[in-house]
Amino acid sequence: MKNFINISDHSSNDLRAIIDEAKSRKLKRKGFNKSAPDEDKPFDGKSLAMIFEKPSTRTRMSFDIAVKQLGGSSITLNPDGIHYGKGDESLKDTAKVLTEYVDIVMLRTSSHKNLEEFGQYLEIPIINGLSDFGHPCQIMSDILTYEESNGPITGKTISWIGDGNNNMSNSLIEAAAKFDFNLKIGCPKKYEPGKKILSWAKKNKVNLTITKKPEDAVKDSDCVMTDKWVSMNDKVNKKAKKKTLKPYQVNKKLMKIAKSDAIFMHCLPVGRGEEVTDEVIDGKQSVVWRQALNRVHAQKSIIKWCLD
Ligand code: CP
Ligand code: NVA
Repeated sequence: MKNFINISDHSSNDLRAIIDEAKSRKLKRKGFNKSAPDEDKPFDGKSLAMIFEKPSTRTRMSFDIAVKQLGGSSITLNPDGIHYGKGDESLKDTAKVLTEYVDIVMLRTSSHKNLEEFGQYLEIPIINGLSDFGHPCQIMSDILTYEESNGPITGKTISWIGDGNNNMSNSLIEAAAKFDFNLKIGCPKKYEPGKKILSWAKKNKVNLTITKKPEDAVKDSDCVMTDKWVSMNDKVNKKAKKKTLKPYQVNKKLMKIAKSDAIFMHCLPVGRGEEVTDEVIDGKQSVVWRQALNRVHAQKSIIKWCLD
């Protein structure tokens, strides 16, 4: 059984195959209605259960549309409305029941450990729809978006600016190893990547630069990425964190230092006027709306890969 919990769990070949299938499926359905199924309906008669412990717009919508395009159906479970790991039913028993009802589960959780535990009890695949440690589906879809705009990502330079210690930056570090691109992180010392991911990066020979200077991080870059300064459930002094990250705003001046054909990416939701200015996110280099759309295409391919 194949789960999709971390990018680091999978081989470069498998990850490349997922991206390539996403590209070809997207191309084949040009002109189709948004939720119309693909011709081969590989998920016909199958279903996905989604559990969200945290809010979501894109992940919720894009997984639902992905499943429809594959010819199947989805159901969203509110953890407060089911017995999910509460006093009256163990997580293990909930997992056993879901195994009887659906073909695959997607979980968004504050606890990466919960995700791994739930995955162990399920006898069907589980997909990480964002945890405190990683956001692998977003990063896979961002690779697809990058390659649509600028060609193969291998050997290119991607810059991550702002909070260097969150779920997005962790998955991006894992992707840098698997897709072999250079990653430059511009962040203050306090928000550098954590020890666990740094030691993984070292072991896996990631071409990683960490600098306190955002200007150095974006120099010669093919793509500038950032994320909210305060993530969901981030238990920090928000005001203090935002103050520390202020010099790391992606604005026109910073974008000018990157390559002239560099693109700007943000997974959304965005803190406009904080991590990025309106001018950049609404500007010509920004690909954020296509990023949101591509969640559908990358996730179709991830679901299919898990079930193949
Ligand atoms: N990018 C992303 O995961 O968005 P949502 O939180 O809206 O799902
Ligand atoms: N780092 C952000 C990503 C949102 C999609 C968060 O966890 O809130």
